[in-house]
Amino acid sequence: MDRNAPIGVFDSGVGGLTVAREIMRQIPNESIIYFGDTARVPYGSKSKETIITYSRQIVQFLLTKKVKAVVVACNTASAFALETLQEEFDIPMLGVVKPGAKVAAETTVNGRVGVIGTLGTVSSGIYKQYIHDLNGDIEVFSKACPLFAPLVEEGWLEDPVTQEIARRYLEELKQEKIDTLVLGCTHYPLIRKTVQRIMGSEVNLVNPAYETAISLRGVLQEQGLANEDSVYVKHKFYVSDGAEKFKSFANTILPCEVEETKDINIEQY
Ligand code: DGL
Repeated sequence: MDRNAPIGVFDSGVGGLTVAREIMRQIPNESIIYFGDTARVPYGSKSKETIITYSRQIVQFLLTKKVKAVVVACNTASAFALETLQEEFDIPMLGVVKPGAKVAAETTVNGRVGVIGTLGTVSSGIYKQYIHDLNGDIEVFSKACPLFAPLVEEGWLEDPVTQEIARRYLEELKQEKIDTLVLGCTHYPLIRKTVQRIMGSEVNLVNPAYETAISLRGVLQEQGLANEDSVYVKHKFYVSDGAEKFKSFANTILPCEVEETKDINIEQY
């Protein structure tokens, strides 16, 4: 496998850019091929079977770009499809849930952790399971926030509507006296300020992206796949719909200039 090959990163839309951003910061020698499934977003309310089908198609597309590893930068796809992808493909595949659970278990002091995510992620119970694998004494309180991802896709990051919806979703978690809250959907770091304002500054917000990038670095090093040279770094962006809108959004959150985003027909993979 070529060390200069890129890393594939995918999500249902713009959310995975929060993970791509962290990879760019933590392992700047690596190139990224990003795919956002903007024609089929949101993933959060779809069945496990559908998410597996979509994820498989995306990995098949990413393999045509000769990626050396894939980061499933979507909690829903990590919860529903990661295991299947790891069985079916023989390049390293990493998700965002395990790294997020690890940080949450290490961060909480009072042993009360909240998790917010899509309906799929929350109903899978995967965060609870991984947090309990690390520490069975931690109490985990989960809340699905299905409107958050569409609001973020719409770019309503600081909108009063987003504030009001967040207030309603987060009310019951506030009652539980949690000291740590996992942003268990890759779209949510983009409304972090709103969530923090509502939860209060004493609640630690966990963004699994940082730990995911650190895990990726470890895997690449262990497997002799790390790019030691920054000469070849080039990031490329693909979506299944709305390339121009995606490009403008990406340029507001990434540390690099996105010059081009291409539309592809993901159904053909
Ligand atoms: N960003 C995704 C996640 O982390 C999915 C959001 C959605 O498409 O519903 O779960």
